Amino acid sequence: MYQAPLPQEYTGLDDATVAARIDAARAKLGKKLVILGHHYQRDEIIAHADYRGDSYKLAKDAGSHPEADYIVFCGVHFMAESADILTPENQVVILPNLAAGCSMADMANHFQVRSAWKQISSVLGDIEVGSGQPGPNTVMPVTYINSAANLKAFVGEHGGTVCTSSNARAAVEWAFARAGKVLFFPDQHLGRNTGVAMGIDPDAEMALWDPFKPLGGNTPVKLKAAKILLWKGHCSVHKRFTVEQIEEARREHPGVTVMVHPECELEVVRASDLNGSTEAILKAVTDAPAGTTWAIGTEVNLVKRLAKEQSDKTIFCLDSQICPCATMYRIHPSFLLYALEELVEGRVVNQIKVPEETARWARIALSRMLQIGTASPKD
Ligand code: 13P
Ligand code: SF4
Repeated sequence: MYQAPLPQEYTGLDDATVAARIDAARAKLGKKLVILGHHYQRDEIIAHADYRGDSYKLAKDAGSHPEADYIVFCGVHFMAESADILTPENQVVILPNLAAGCSMADMANHFQVRSAWKQISSVLGDIEVGSGQPGPNTVMPVTYINSAANLKAFVGEHGGTVCTSSNARAAVEWAFARAGKVLFFPDQHLGRNTGVAMGIDPDAEMALWDPFKPLGGNTPVKLKAAKILLWKGHCSVHKRFTVEQIEEARREHPGVTVMVHPECELEVVRASDLNGSTEAILKAVTDAPAGTTWAIGTEVNLVKRLAKEQSDKTIFCLDSQICPCATMYRIHPSFLLYALEELVEGRVVNQIKVPEETARWARIALSRMLQIGTASPKD
């Protein structure tokens, strides 16, 4: 989305002034305000967050503050949209910089997903899930929360669910209890890693759906054989982690534990010791004994913060050259300050509002996600 430049008086302020004015605005707004910060936000933002977490935890946090008039979401656009959908009509959700999107979420749009659905139906017949026994050709759509609200609505309308990296396995198991196949979008890697962890063969039983090719680049035979149809999307940050980096970390740090985010490629997940969402990474490292060494494959702001906060352990990012998530980084403290000082003056800027006709179905899909929870029934 387009973000208008900050008013002149917010540019060129020094860091200490920005931080002090944010604190002052927060104090004036008191309980009317809740600030949520995703783990990938820079330290200067996290310092002001009432809650920090991964996408799943923050979606829950957003919905548990009915007393607040304003929820300021320091994260990316799809997270603020989900918060708006899960909060009552009177609560205002604000994204401090409207240009903070997610390149992966942009890899699937409503037109492409509807077209894929039609094309898959043309090969498999009636793919809609019903209330009876799951037929082998029925398809359950599952969207990663990193997707636009209208895709969540599509999924809600077709009986499916949203998932996050915290509950992808539980969500896919939920889907297979209700349908013969799963259409997973937009992240092929999270879908593939989840399927492989459940024992599904990535070559014989998964098909990659390229939205720019007829039938997604598949033959009808391939589509009929597939249990999971994986949308051809990816995260450009997590794509940077490689098996070579893991081998180097093991050579240079004998005894290192390697943990990566499941948005990494299958080979990288296979070469690691552990994988999990940002919250799972935080927990694993926090629970580990002092003196242990960790190589982490996820966004660098989280890894650096972990290293700083847990100095009794050696913690480093697998990719020494890695850049932060460029869109998360757009939430500069000056944008947060501007949004808060406008609220103090009684003006709302950068509100994220999902139209009710979309929100209605998207809420159903998000509520299913929250009901499914994070634990796989097979755990
Ligand atoms: P989490 O689900 O771990 O918060 O990840 C969100 C995300 O965008 C990772 O790239
Ligand atoms: Fe999107 Fe990747 Fe950034 Fe997460 S890290 S918000 S998936 S671009």
